[in-house]
Amino acid sequence: MSTTPTVMSLRVAVAEPAARGIQRFELRHPEGAELPAFTAGAHIRIKTPGGAMRQYSLSNDPAERDRYVIAVKREGNGRGGSLSLVDGVRAGALVEVGAPENLFELDAKAKSFILIAGGIGITPMMAMARHLLAEGTRKFKLCYLTRDAESSAFLDELRGPDFAPHVTVHHDQGDPGNAFDLWPLLEKPGSAAGQHVYCCGPTPLMDAVRDMTGHWPASAVHFESFGGDTKPHADDQPFEVRLEHSGRTYEVPVGVSILDALRLEGVHVPSSCESGTCGSCKTRLLEGEADHRDLVLLDEEKADHIMVCVSRAKTPCLVLDL
Ligand code: FES
Repeated sequence: MSTTPTVMSLRVAVAEPAARGIQRFELRHPEGAELPAFTAGAHIRIKTPGGAMRQYSLSNDPAERDRYVIAVKREGNGRGGSLSLVDGVRAGALVEVGAPENLFELDAKAKSFILIAGGIGITPMMAMARHLLAEGTRKFKLCYLTRDAESSAFLDELRGPDFAPHVTVHHDQGDPGNAFDLWPLLEKPGSAAGQHVYCCGPTPLMDAVRDMTGHWPASAVHFESFGGDTKPHADDQPFEVRLEHSGRTYEVPVGVSILDALRLEGVHVPSSCESGTCGSCKTRLLEGEADHRDLVLLDEEKADHIMVCVSRAKTPCLVLDL
């Protein structure tokens, strides 16, 4: 997997609402050229008008080479990337897009699939379901769990004749007591018969599926998780970072990453995902204790490295090898 994918400039052919708070974007080559191929479960990185790179799963049929389709949830309390895309990008605009990458690939040897999607987690599952339907040889069940019909993208399609026999849609109306019971699906591991589970959705859903599949082999259960812990914590505190080479010290306020605090001061640190997943911003930590919030560092690296896009400090000052 490349961490520095080729960047393309693509035209937004369609930007339209797909459900409440969800915008569907269709991206095409400005001259109609073929796009790099992708496989089901892949995502692309997009540069938002705010300048950050964000990653979104492709939801269209991987056999299509003329477009990438993504659905973006407008996250009002996120880091602003989705807001700036949904509010700031209209049809006709050009956006910078990285080549597709896949960290959530369908297992080639699996014989059947249970796909569990919560909310906007439906996007990679749409590409998987389209691929499996077209392939026509491997069975799948798709559980699509959302709050209500209005907030559910792709609903008409999933209720159509092609998908309906494979799909269960459940709306909990925001009531945890009305959650869909996944246990009957997961109680008996189907792994011996080649069944694999794929789950993408909010953390509580992924945690529940993780709990319910503890008796499955880990190799048969797959989770899509796009980010480290990027949202501010209630007890976050400001702290300082000192750069060893320049000797300069910078304040990192609550709600601002080390990466952004340095960027605002003109200090460049390589970065890409800005969600603690790609590894680009790995920085040597010389003094202080980090509050690690990424999904990249190995345990043995944590004492002397930090991913500055998401992680913070447990001590008043961190000294970085910059
Ligand atoms: S920028 Fe990707 S891990 Fe920090």
